[in-house]
Amino acid sequence: MICLAHRGASGHAPENTLAAFEKAVELGADWIELDVFAVENALVVIHDNRLERTTNGAGYVMTSSVAYLRSLDAGNGQKIPLLSEVLELAAGKIKVNIELKGPGTAGPVAALIEFYVKNQGRQYADFLVSSFDHRQVKKAKTLCPGLPIAPNLTGPPLNLDRLVADLSPFSIHVDADFVTTELVDEIHGLGCPAFVFTANTVEEIKRLRDMGVDGVFTNFPERVKQAG
Ligand code: G3P
Ligand code: MG
Repeated sequence: MICLAHRGASGHAPENTLAAFEKAVELGADWIELDVFAVENALVVIHDNRLERTTNGAGYVMTSSVAYLRSLDAGNGQKIPLLSEVLELAAGKIKVNIELKGPGTAGPVAALIEFYVKNQGRQYADFLVSSFDHRQVKKAKTLCPGLPIAPNLTGPPLNLDRLVADLSPFSIHVDADFVTTELVDEIHGLGCPAFVFTANTVEEIKRLRDMGVDGVFTNFPERVKQAG
């Protein structure tokens, strides 16, 4: 089963920090998953649209300056990373699933990946761009046709066949709360693997594996191997 370290190995280190991504590499995850916002001319790696839960700062991410964001403690002395720093850390070690959170992220993320592929010998297959905002992932693919993309589903989908025809996704990402064997079968019938978020116990990972799920997002990458 494919293991995607959710916000890095966020059960072991502060989420969406370089420490969490390094831990995911150490634990042998196949992918790191991270969340990205565009601020000024930078791409910053953080999940919430506000700062209070995961940092010692306050306010909205998108109305903060990059200088302020970079001055904050994101846990255990870690900084809020830039996407470029995470891609450097991951090079040759682990694939990166970039989840587009804020508006205006599709263009700069596609451009950054294109730069790495054209100038630094990376492969498009080292990356996967996903979002709950399906227009954003479609825009990323339009800008960068070689880029693997995935829609995140917020609920049981209507017209999944139409969505797949529209996006030509690499994978479909489904919430563990509503995934069913029938939905996994439908996704497979459309030619895609099903990746499910988020499973943090061995029992839950086993339950998903028995449904035919291909990959799981987890805060504890070692538990995917423990699930067998
Ligand atoms: O990308 C899968 C998962 O991370 C989506 O939910 O809220 O953890 O970003 P969230
Ligand atoms: Mg995410």
